[in-house]
Amino acid sequence: MPCTVVVGGFWGDEGKGKIVSYMALKDKVDVCVRVGSVNAAHTVCFEGKRYALHMVPSCFVYEKCRLLIGAGANVHVAKFLEEVELTNVKSRIGVDRQVSIIEEKHAEQDRTSAHLRGIGTTGWGVGPAIEERVRRTAKLAKDIPELQPYLTDVALEVNNAIDSGKKVILEGTQGLMLSLFHGTYPYVTGRDTSASAVCSEAGVGPTKVDEVLVVFKSFMTRVGAGPLPGEIPKEEAVKRGWFEIAAGTGRERRSAPFNFEIAKRAIMVNGATQLALTKLDALYPECKGVRRYDDLPKGAKNFVAEVERQLGVPVVLIGTGPDVLDIIDRRT
Ligand code: IMP
Ligand code: MG
Repeated sequence: MPCTVVVGGFWGDEGKGKIVSYMALKDKVDVCVRVGSVNAAHTVCFEGKRYALHMVPSCFVYEKCRLLIGAGANVHVAKFLEEVELTNVKSRIGVDRQVSIIEEKHAEQDRTSAHLRGIGTTGWGVGPAIEERVRRTAKLAKDIPELQPYLTDVALEVNNAIDSGKKVILEGTQGLMLSLFHGTYPYVTGRDTSASAVCSEAGVGPTKVDEVLVVFKSFMTRVGAGPLPGEIPKEEAVKRGWFEIAAGTGRERRSAPFNFEIAKRAIMVNGATQLALTKLDALYPECKGVRRYDDLPKGAKNFVAEVERQLGVPVVLIGTGPDVLDIIDRRT
């Protein structure tokens, strides 16, 4: 804080929604900008309800937070309107005029292109929508009647907020290993997912950022095709309690143990100043619901210490269960 960029360090699904929503409540975040697109689902478990958000920023849980979708994003209009209704944020969410629009024809292109099918895309058509934007033929938010009440200048709003000392989160999507530039190409998403790209999509210069928080899960998962170093068979993942079904697509996630070399790379490319480690309770079931570091079992403390020793960045937030408040907060 005041301006923190939150990004994923692996292949997405590290638990960014949980970390961002916790910070919203705990730090009373004033402004949250989401970037990316509808392919990413951020899970937020709040007051007994589970949300899988494709468009609305995860800070919606703090009712005073201004919610924004940055100019670099691609908005799916129907999904946006559905989630605005679901989360009841109509009066406090804004969309940049220059956001580009993802349409049914883009999803169709994702589904019918053999190349894209081979990559195992989420099927929303994000790659084709970005292609259309690059050709300079895309529709923008300002062209869409249903979006008129939400239009704003996100870069101006967020820079004004930062300049007046307000607390801001830039909420990235997916993870570095899915980056078009830095990931496992061609098995990647259609855009860069690094902290720099998040700033660029939001319209915030690098000198305005105070913290870059990289989120890692305590083990790795990926959906779709492409390499996953150390991958274990599904039966083994089930046995270990690592087996997951994707919130967004319902697809089964592949899994592998935490990989320090990949994590080091994510820290370097993102310029990490802080780390969050989620699902520690999947490695150490006794951790479930623990909210004080001192109450962690010895094995779990050793794992956290090993992460900090090998990666050289402090682990400030630790997830110990699905609820937004199942967190150990080690920030001063
Ligand atoms: P696309 O982003 O839909 O084009 O899919 C490209 C690759 O990125 C596929 O392997 C997807 O499974 C993966 N991917 C895209 N978004 C997410 C996400 O939010 N979480 C996990 N994987 C994702
Ligand atoms: Mg997800």
